[in-house]
Amino acid sequence: MNTPVTDWRGKRVWIIGASSGIGAETAKQLSAQGAKLALSARRKTLLEQVAASCHDALVLEADITDNATLQQANAELLAQWGGYDLVLIVSGTYHPMRAETFDLQAAQQTIDVNLKGVYQVLDNVLPVFLKQQSGGIGVVGSVAGLSGLPDALAYGPSKAALINLCESLYFDLHAKGVAVYMINPGFVDTPMTSVNKFTMPALMTPPQAATALIRGIMNGEFHIHFPRRFTNWLRFARLLPYRGYFYLIHKFTGL
Ligand SMILES: NC(=O)c1ccc[n+]([C@@H]2O[C@H](COP(=O)([O-])OP(=O)(O)OC[C@H]3O[C@@H](n4cnc5c(N)ncnc54)[C@H](OP(=O)(O)O)[C@@H]3O)[C@@H](O)[C@H]2O)c1
Repeated sequence: MNTPVTDWRGKRVWIIGASSGIGAETAKQLSAQGAKLALSARRKTLLEQVAASCHDALVLEADITDNATLQQANAELLAQWGGYDLVLIVSGTYHPMRAETFDLQAAQQTIDVNLKGVYQVLDNVLPVFLKQQSGGIGVVGSVAGLSGLPDALAYGPSKAALINLCESLYFDLHAKGVAVYMINPGFVDTPMTSVNKFTMPALMTPPQAATALIRGIMNGEFHIHFPRRFTNWLRFARLLPYRGYFYLIHKFTGL
């Protein structure tokens, strides 16, 4: 559905959310395959550590909820690179939340980072992509966005919106020669999921997740999801009538 990427050598990749977890690992693996990296997030010291393990990486501190910082990073990047081949929005935040633990502030912060932040990145990069008519945008959502799950009252809707956003974006950008990658991981062992108190099924390591993400882009997939044995099970469950869906998810999670 997207043009396959066969060679990362010299490819200019901006990763937002590169200071830890999946973003940091993706940066390292792309660098090992010859890509030029720009690394953004709020924690500069961590970004510098990631940059130190890449052969050609710029550090551009930015907060996805603060468009002025994104504008500054984007301007610096364009001054250095003149454009980009891939922008990967990996940043995200997660607050487990149920009706009993509802927290308006945490819910709003989740939407600010996971959804409004993506819009702010698009505000900066869409004019560039539309002009250059090449390259691609990848948005990391989650399988939690595929359908409603327990303990995901804020996180789930923020990621569900990204699914819709990527689908819409594909209609607009594909015809212009710009790829769109909708990336929905299952469970990955990162600082984000360290708050989970349950046993996470089909848990992947960050290097495994980064490898699957990069493989999906290289294959030109639109919907990149992993690990398939878990994500395909959820994709099947969401097709069931609600009676079956609610029964299955309740039985599986105990929630
Ligand atoms: N781990 C999983 O099981 C899992 C499953 C499905 C989807 N995902 C998604 O995968 C993505 C990466 O998560 P991860 O598991 O790798 O978690 P992580 O290690 O906690 O990484 C989250 C990244 O997001 C960045 N970030 C958070 N708030 C930000 C902000 N306001 N501005 C800029 N960057 C910000 C963090 O950087 P700073 O704090 O330095 O800003 C960090 O680089 C997220 O979108 C997450 O929702 C993860």
